[in-house]
Amino acid sequence: MDIKTLIQRAESTHRLSEEEILYLLQAQDADESLLPAADRVRRKYVGDEIHLRALIEFSNICKNNCLYCGLRAENTCINRYRMDEETIFSFAQKAVQYGYKTIVLQGGEDPAFTTEVWLRLLKRIKTLGLAITLSIGERPFEDYRAFKAAGADRYLLRIETTDKALYEKYNPSMSFENRLRCLHDLKKLGYEVGTGVLVGLPGQTMRSLAKDILFFQELGADMIGLGPFIPNPQTPLKNAPAPVLGPALRVMALTRLLLPDVNIPATTAMETLQPNGRILALQSGANVVMPNITEGDARQNYALYPGKAGAADSPLAFREKLAAQLTAIGRPISTGYGWHKKKIY
Ligand code: 5AD
Ligand code: SF4
Repeated sequence: MDIKTLIQRAESTHRLSEEEILYLLQAQDADESLLPAADRVRRKYVGDEIHLRALIEFSNICKNNCLYCGLRAENTCINRYRMDEETIFSFAQKAVQYGYKTIVLQGGEDPAFTTEVWLRLLKRIKTLGLAITLSIGERPFEDYRAFKAAGADRYLLRIETTDKALYEKYNPSMSFENRLRCLHDLKKLGYEVGTGVLVGLPGQTMRSLAKDILFFQELGADMIGLGPFIPNPQTPLKNAPAPVLGPALRVMALTRLLLPDVNIPATTAMETLQPNGRILALQSGANVVMPNITEGDARQNYALYPGKAGAADSPLAFREKLAAQLTAIGRPISTGYGWHKKKIY
């Protein structure tokens, strides 16, 4: 197989087989043609605008025990917090003041956030005219249905890995089937659905990453958020090998080639691994940034992994820095909601 021919074909047809994806993932020297191809496809299908989504990390309490994550229930080294409804609402108001059109409510699977709490909050926040993205984990169909009716527009739920055995090894309290059930329910209900994976989990193969990309296509995902796995010293995976950015960027670029019109964020984990990681991602297929507008202790304590980029910035300082960086690479900030516009290809 020839790298250039494969990439050209992916760029024009947006189709590759598992073997072909695997080949490109394994070819170290594919990057110099792969990343620019993803950048061209991004420009052609979703344009130069960057969509910003204001992230509110409302609780770091989680009933689950994912082996890779600092918020896991058994981690006793972390300071736990939970915002009350009023605080969450006031962050949503701030998002509007800062000029954001979308908020992402992200948290651990915190049992205090019952269906009733969410329905109250969603209805209240909806009056602010924001698009609302939920990232609150696995729930029954009825909850998803009610949240949608109350104003939720989008939902983020990473599949984390499509390797079922690996998934269940790293998420001991969860089942792969239920994860899939959730994603399919969300699609059925008409949410814009975001999924994604961790890249570089111990035991994860390149073939399984190739399957992950085909899974995004098969699901018809609207958004794909992925990033490198960063070992957290407070978790059982603390001794995993040092993380690298390369493979995550490559998976992201291939995702853009095969799902040309979806929204893809440059994730914080990418920026954490490399000072210019976010910009590099935005020039290799990504078109979204999710600035964290959480303030105070919560900003420090939402510690999925160590060294999280931007944890020390204020929301406004971050926004200014980002605006300057985006101007420098000729990418305007969108003033719209940034919905997924499906194109024919
Ligand atoms: N490194 C990178 N990403 C992580 N996440 C959880 N733990 C880590 C880690 N150690 C990701 C998961 C989750 C998202 C909110 O954060 O993919 O879905
Ligand atoms: Fe909880 Fe999500 Fe962390 Fe798993 S990855 S422990 S579900 S916050």
